[in-house]
Amino acid sequence: MSIPKASDKTLDRSGVRREHRLAVIGGDGIGPEVVEAGVEVLEALSRARPALGFALTRYDWSSERRLRTGRYIPEGGLAELKSFDAILFGAVGSREVPDHESLWGLRLAIVQSFDQYANVRPARVLPGVESPLSAGAAIDWVIVRENAEGEYAGHGGRAHRGLPIEVGTETAVFTRAGVERIHRFAFELARQRPKKRLTLVTKSNALRFGMVLWDEVFHELAAQYPDVRTDRELVDAVTARMVKRPESLDVLVATNLHADILSDLAAALSGSLGVAPTANLNPERAFPSLFEPIHGSALDIAGQGIANPIGTFWTLVLLLEHLGETEAAAALMRAIERVTEARVHTPDLGGTATT
Ligand code: NAI
Ligand code: MG
Repeated sequence: MSIPKASDKTLDRSGVRREHRLAVIGGDGIGPEVVEAGVEVLEALSRARPALGFALTRYDWSSERRLRTGRYIPEGGLAELKSFDAILFGAVGSREVPDHESLWGLRLAIVQSFDQYANVRPARVLPGVESPLSAGAAIDWVIVRENAEGEYAGHGGRAHRGLPIEVGTETAVFTRAGVERIHRFAFELARQRPKKRLTLVTKSNALRFGMVLWDEVFHELAAQYPDVRTDRELVDAVTARMVKRPESLDVLVATNLHADILSDLAAALSGSLGVAPTANLNPERAFPSLFEPIHGSALDIAGQGIANPIGTFWTLVLLLEHLGETEAAAALMRAIERVTEARVHTPDLGGTATT
């Protein structure tokens, strides 16, 4: 049976139901809590739109499963996952498994195997949410994070374990192909936004090889995008600019590690880690993309029913856009903003609402 593709617009007019096949992985801690809240949202969207449907398959891939069976993803799991239109993911991280094992065992296993090299992280202060910045209302950024190589390429090792001469290496890997495709993605994204601004973030004063390659490839590509205004910041300096002149930024492109850090700052400046969404995209659609709130498993509040589900709901907006469901995506974003504007807030935003 062929699966209707989002780009097949004729399905809409002929009244055929568009059913998107989604893999749902709650994971650990608050992951399953916010993901199940997200599933309720998908069901509501589908109920209100007879032509829109979701076929959900849930996977119990989690640290609990890893402790029970020795693995996060069972044999053949990735091959099965590949057939879906998209993946909705909660978070992974448990007190019983070291963080580097859980991250690589589940989230990075999917992100890297499915070549989801473009990690898109929008940041904006939603209505009714307070930014710690007085100029917070000006935050309207998209951070584009290189998601497949760089500092998280997994190259390194340990030697002389336990001895005084013990050594650990962590080699960042930057390939021309990898750098070029993330820059191109960022330019294309910046071009679609009203401000059409793109800021290159590196640290090419201190890091003379990979970061200089980043700068060079960026400037080569910039010539092909004369409509996009570009500038360049060192990663340390850009943190100050995010705080002091948020209005001067639009799209930022940065490496795996740098953008990871910058996007947590962006989320905090936008009010809470609990509201921030992200998409891990394989833009060529050779593999399904993975959508998740940026927060982790938040073990400190897990099981209390107070996790903020807004990050997951906003994540669903990105998922729907990726599937070509632009009307449903816009309706969901409006609904989210109505809720935050009415100050229906969970405790992380100073309210008393439950998930
Ligand atoms: P975290 O994001 O889980 O929590 C940081 C703080 O923000 C906590 O105080 C938490 O209560 C709060 N918070 C996060 N999400 C929230 C939400 N939706 N509603 C209300 N409050 C929220 O980061 P942390 O504590 O550094 O990591 C906890 C575990 O999660 C670790 O095992 C870590 O490795 C893992 N992790 C996993 C990620 C993923 O799966 N993508 C991303 C980040 C961390
Ligand atoms: Mg992070």
